[in-house]
Amino acid sequence: MAQQKALFLKEKQGAWVVGANSIPKPGAGDLLVKIEATALNPVDWKIQKYGVFIEEFPTILGTDAAGEVAAVGAGVTGFKVGDKVFHQGWFSNDKATFQQYTIVPAEITAKLPSNISLDEAASMPLALATAALGLYSPVDKGGQGGAGLSPSWEDAGRGKCAGKPILLFGGATSVGQYVIQLAKLSGFSLIIATASPKHTSFLSSLGVDHIIDRNSPLSELKSQLASLTKSPLEVVYDAVSSAETQQTGYDVLAPGGTLVIVLNDQINKDSSAGKTIAYVMGNVHMPTQRAAGVSLYSKLTSLVEKGEIKPNRVEILPNGLAGIPDGLKRMEEDKVSGVKLIARPQETP
Ligand SMILES: NC(=O)c1ccc[n+]([C@@H]2O[C@H](COP(=O)([O-])OP(=O)(O)OC[C@H]3O[C@@H](n4cnc5c(N)ncnc54)[C@H](OP(=O)(O)O)[C@@H]3O)[C@@H](O)[C@H]2O)c1
Repeated sequence: MAQQKALFLKEKQGAWVVGANSIPKPGAGDLLVKIEATALNPVDWKIQKYGVFIEEFPTILGTDAAGEVAAVGAGVTGFKVGDKVFHQGWFSNDKATFQQYTIVPAEITAKLPSNISLDEAASMPLALATAALGLYSPVDKGGQGGAGLSPSWEDAGRGKCAGKPILLFGGATSVGQYVIQLAKLSGFSLIIATASPKHTSFLSSLGVDHIIDRNSPLSELKSQLASLTKSPLEVVYDAVSSAETQQTGYDVLAPGGTLVIVLNDQINKDSSAGKTIAYVMGNVHMPTQRAAGVSLYSKLTSLVEKGEIKPNRVEILPNGLAGIPDGLKRMEEDKVSGVKLIARPQETP
């Protein structure tokens, strides 16, 4: 079987090692993608450091890919070998993206628009899915899902939240940058985000109306919001999800509103307030979210081509897959600010 290079996590909380993996064959409905660019995400270093989520080792991580279709499975229409594409990967050794080739269902794959690079495209899938599912999925009985708004890429959802404010913690996070842009498409009239002031002009270019300095005390947030709007805050998206931002988001949320969180719930609740907490799973592969993913991916190329969704700014790491561990270390140490780190697997020495 043909071989490729992959970055393995050898064992739980073990070392990262570049090694050989066989190149999988696409099944019915799947594409084999030659990965030209993959993005680093916080979950990748958290799995290594805390030993969470993955039980089978050696494993390959990475959930963002942009590249070229290398083979097409039975029954696939709309894609051919050589097409440039991007998609979300998944944590199984044939679908992860810290390797040179990966498998993806064609129905959750988008063609690369002509106005962005493969490196930029790789900044999108996981963070965009997390933003989109957090705003637009319904929440289930266990508290997983999102705010249940109408998807802004469908006609029924475009502009539907006109007149309403939304608050976002972490405007400069990768997820936050996509929340801003989707909130704009949903028509929110006042998009307020916490971020470092140095990101103000960039985040304004994505659609933020007001930045609150992320370093100002959260105890002041309520009065800051009161000076900006009298309308009830029905949706708060917390892309930081520290204990403090979660609690503050919950407290400023209007009765009946939804707080979307991206990490485990640490909130002291007031059961009389009728507030919903939705823990988003940013994954379009999951059966319960697959239909939303198919809908998003059917419109994604066009949304990007029209400039309605812009990718994150990117920084390219050296040494392909071998450069990923150093990049993850920088993320863990909070030394990455407002850019997405990208590795090019084909440049692995
Ligand atoms: N549940 C899910 O499915 C899911 C999916 C994706 C991500 N996540 C989680 O979501 C979080 C965000 O992920 P990401 O990839 O978007 O992060 P990221 O881009 O790596 O976040 C880095 C940014 O966070 C900003 N930041 C850090 N602390 C902040 C604070 N207290 N207030 C405001 N901004 C702050 C930093 O701002 P400065 O530039 O000012 O330093 C920096 O720009 C992570 O915890 C990740 O694990 C969850």
